[in-house]
Amino acid sequence: MVKVLLVGNGGREHAMASAICRSGESVSLCAFMGSNNPGIARLAKQNGGESVVGSVSSPESVAKWAESRGIGLAVIGPESALEAGVADRLSENGVRCASPLKSAARLESDKSFCRNLMKKYGVPGQPEFGIFPDGAKAGEMIRRLGGNVAVKPAGLTAGKGVKVSGVHLKDAAEAEAYAREVIDNSIGGIRAVLVEEKLEGEEFTLQAFVSGSRIVGMPAVQDHKLAFEGDRGPNTGGMGSYSDANHLLPFVGRGDYDEGLEIMRKAVFALKRETGEDYRGVLYGQFMLTGKGPELIEFNARFGDPEAMNVLSVLESDYVEALERMVDGTVSQKDARFAGKATVCKYLVPSGYPDSPKKGAPITVDERRIGEAGARLYFGAVHESPDGRLLTTGSRTAGIVGVADGIGGAEAAAERACSFVRGDVFHRRDIGTAALVARRVEHMARIRGRSR
Ligand code: AMP
Ligand code: GLY
Repeated sequence: MVKVLLVGNGGREHAMASAICRSGESVSLCAFMGSNNPGIARLAKQNGGESVVGSVSSPESVAKWAESRGIGLAVIGPESALEAGVADRLSENGVRCASPLKSAARLESDKSFCRNLMKKYGVPGQPEFGIFPDGAKAGEMIRRLGGNVAVKPAGLTAGKGVKVSGVHLKDAAEAEAYAREVIDNSIGGIRAVLVEEKLEGEEFTLQAFVSGSRIVGMPAVQDHKLAFEGDRGPNTGGMGSYSDANHLLPFVGRGDYDEGLEIMRKAVFALKRETGEDYRGVLYGQFMLTGKGPELIEFNARFGDPEAMNVLSVLESDYVEALERMVDGTVSQKDARFAGKATVCKYLVPSGYPDSPKKGAPITVDERRIGEAGARLYFGAVHESPDGRLLTTGSRTAGIVGVADGIGGAEAAAERACSFVRGDVFHRRDIGTAALVARRVEHMARIRGRSR
């Protein structure tokens, strides 16, 4: 019996928990959660494991609990735990950990480290960038680029501290004012701002299992960061995402996919040369597909949320074996076998999300009918009261993933399933629709046409 520790409690971790419980090996799931996720808690109980609530970014608390439970293998969902060094502490205690150490997770947690590393080792697919501890210098670069920039805190902000011209920033003056605000308030915990050339194109996500020099890709996914339909509103952690049956995307060809994965391979290699350390765990590359090919927006040292829900819903190979092999350094294509199905994920979020989400709103969930509609439900930020009622807590409430032969069918399944969750929540109806996908394809065709 392998006892697998899962750290985290979002929709992503619920999907990881169900993949762990599907494992052919005799496995029991032990979940360490920041707050109780009723879906994860139920899975742990059903398969003979258990769950506990504590601070996921306290290495001491996680390691103590793991020790008391005789954990052999661990995997970590959220970046806050990676940045805090939970993997390091577990590894020191002899736990086999299929997530990166703190120093490797800097690919995500320190954007300036990441950009400088890529530059030093000549990893392709990087936009022009500058890192500035003072506003005047940042302003110079912003004006030189005509205000066509992305302004980012150098540290972690859960994807919400980034502002892009034409989306959140009107002109160079606004961009400069925001750059100064980031520096003055040390937004993201580091007193510096990263200014990047604004990349034009379509975004896509590539996630890969990595162990040392081995890297195997999963189906490409497109996430939707903006809160409202038609790509409007404030940035969020991600409102939903889709993947296609051929594991590419309607606007991402095999060549683009391979180029993206190659950028990831080179980054892992650069990290090894720089730090002497092997990257182990899932690596997430966020790319902008431009007229010149994929360019890297950022890395995450973990699965994406919601993107984990797309790929894990169609994972056919054994996830626990993949975890074991990432630790052993032997992960291979056999560990990344996915059904030839499309997926569409829609996140239900409390009304008012993300700026003033309604907390404590009751929701009801008809899981049987969601299943009959051809979809899966993964709980996110949901509180279960002692009498079994489910209440929103402010963050994303639940991910619904439709699975079908094509994106259209998966979208219809997800949409139908969303109607079986009732309460003061909303979701983006446009994600995965034929109209939205066609807009993406046309946009990409225009971009490619322009760069010819
Ligand atoms: P990040 O937290 O770095 O993923 O940034 C959040 C979002 O900002 C991304 O998903 C992109 O939509 C956008 N973004 C970040 N960097 C750039 C860039 N250099 N050019 C255009 N858009 C960007
Ligand atoms: N979906 C974006 C993220 O997980 O960071």
